[in-house]
Amino acid sequence: MVKKLNGKSFALSALVAASFVAAGAMASDKTEPRSDVYKDKFSNQFETWHSTAESETITDALEQDPALVILWAGYGFAKDYNAPRGHMYAVTDVRNTLRTGGPTNAEDGPMPMACWSCKSTDVPRLIEDKGEAGYFAGKWAKGGAEVVNTIGCADCHEKGSPKLRLSRPFAERAMEAIGTPFDKASKQDKESMVCAQCHVEYYFEKADDRKGFVKFPWDMGTTVEQMEAYYDGIQFADWTHAVSKTPMLKAQHPGYETWKLGTHGQNNVSCVDCHMPKVTNEKGKKFTDHKVGNPFDRFEETCATCHSQDKDYMLNVYKTNKSKVLEVKGKAEQQLVAAHFEAGAAWKAGATEEEMKPILTNIRHAQWRWDYAIASHGVYAHAPTEALRILGTAVDKAANARVQLAQLLAAKGVKQPIELPDVSTKAKAQAALGMDMEAMKAEKEKFKKELVPKWDEEAKAREATYK
Ligand code: HEC
Ligand code: HEC
Ligand code: HEC
Ligand code: HEC
Repeated sequence: MVKKLNGKSFALSALVAASFVAAGAMASDKTEPRSDVYKDKFSNQFETWHSTAESETITDALEQDPALVILWAGYGFAKDYNAPRGHMYAVTDVRNTLRTGGPTNAEDGPMPMACWSCKSTDVPRLIEDKGEAGYFAGKWAKGGAEVVNTIGCADCHEKGSPKLRLSRPFAERAMEAIGTPFDKASKQDKESMVCAQCHVEYYFEKADDRKGFVKFPWDMGTTVEQMEAYYDGIQFADWTHAVSKTPMLKAQHPGYETWKLGTHGQNNVSCVDCHMPKVTNEKGKKFTDHKVGNPFDRFEETCATCHSQDKDYMLNVYKTNKSKVLEVKGKAEQQLVAAHFEAGAAWKAGATEEEMKPILTNIRHAQWRWDYAIASHGVYAHAPTEALRILGTAVDKAANARVQLAQLLAAKGVKQPIELPDVSTKAKAQAALGMDMEAMKAEKEKFKKELVPKWDEEAKAREATYK
């Protein structure tokens, strides 16, 4: 029965994929995906937006902190994970990451269409043209020739207008779920909501009629405990951990949720107050600086509009908070890495599902909390005390799992401590998990050489038909 059903829905999605390509796509009348067309009309905004390209450095997060490879064992993030950089690189970076693999055609590759959702103005265009079911159906590679314009004007604005909008229906639904639909929100709230289309926690739905849809898990609220309860309630897991066999949750980047919990969020200081300040052009006219980046680079227009302390003082506060959070983050990771390997040893020693269940629940919750705090980039600036609290609960839960594991391993007659493999570098950690990085890199290179140029060509031909 299930098999037949799957066969049917596969056939259906293949059909959708085919029609998607065949029909090509007109520019939706609500969305102009090409930010370049506003170059002259809104030159200050355009130029500052374009200069997010100056934030070009790629920081390899796995190289910096190889424990991540173990924490994400069996999941795409163990292959490749970089810190965020400028909005101008969103499409480039999602094409280049090993996580999206090396598809050879529209139906090939590990990731679903949903992986484009926070990268491009073509996403609202496609959703408007095809509906959500049409957009989300199929593999990531299906969208390659369609999703080509990086994060731009149409992601945050109504067509050709300075008026802010939510361009994604799933973001609109999520705001309604927590009580403030966008059109009822204040100007200040809207300034954070536009960022919350992407800088949030989300997951991909599994129900047959909404397969692969993006959803924010906010139905019970946006705190770490509320989202955890939500995920437990629907028995959701992003993946099964390769070593400990835990049904894991991967936090994405709950920046909006953690900002809300910090002093600035509590006082409704918006993302835009710090990341897109009002500045003055050469003619003395005020406009919004669209170079979304590090607020300390424009201290006078950001922090100093509200605070009288000088920049060095504030930078020092930030750095001190950051080092405190990093210290506890490191402790949580040490506990979690050990817990995964100890759970692996317990399975090997013949532990039963029933014996493991409470232990795996502690590991699941501990790592979710660690990830919620850490994956929300900028948490050191946005909500350092909340990050410390959450990380504290992560350490506590991981430690509980290890006490339970020590008892279980002793009962099974396993000698302790369990020996951990050398995971002191990214390469060693990946090797310890038996990952064939050379094969993945070769596959990616082939994809970049062969399929990507075809995508770009096809997109160019399509856009040439736009008015
Ligand atoms: C990440 C979201 C985002 C993107 C992308 C974005 N804007 Fe904006 N834009 C804003 C916000 C926020 C404001 C300030 C609105 C407010 O203060 O309520 C704004 C304001 C404006 C204004 C009003 C005048 C001003 O400077 O305050 C114009 C015009 C404008 N943007 C044009 C553009 C153009 C053109 C692009 C693309 C090149 C673009 N925006 C891309 C978020 C965005
Ligand atoms: C359409 C989705 C989307 C929207 C809307 C969006 N972002 Fe982003 N943002 C991203 C992605 C994706 C990246 C990472 C890009 C990369 O690394 O290739 C990013 C990166 C960033 C960075 C890192 C920049 C750097 O130079 O290191 C900051 C800061 C940021 N966003 C803040 C904001 C703020 C503030 C808003 C609202 C005004 C916003 N973003 C709106 C998707 C979005
Ligand atoms: C009180 C000012 C302030 C507010 C409000 C604020 N931020 Fe930040 N944000 C910062 C500072 C400071 C940093 C650290 C900058 C750095 O080190 O690059 C930062 C960092 C970030 C980063 C990580 C950049 C990176 O390269 O790692 C992202 C993403 C981000 N903020 C998004 C947001 C979003 C989304 C909101 C609203 C929900 C928001 N910020 C609200 C000040 C603020
Ligand atoms: C729009 C106004 C506004 C802007 C812009 C702003 N802040 Fe604040 N900040 C506040 C308010 C309001 C508070 C809370 C003050 C209070 O409770 O007494 C605060 C509190 C703080 C605190 C104390 C935090 C705590 O947890 O008690 C620090 C540190 C701080 N801000 C740093 C910054 C930095 C750094 C920037 C720029 C990146 C910045 N702020 C930008 C309004 C602002």
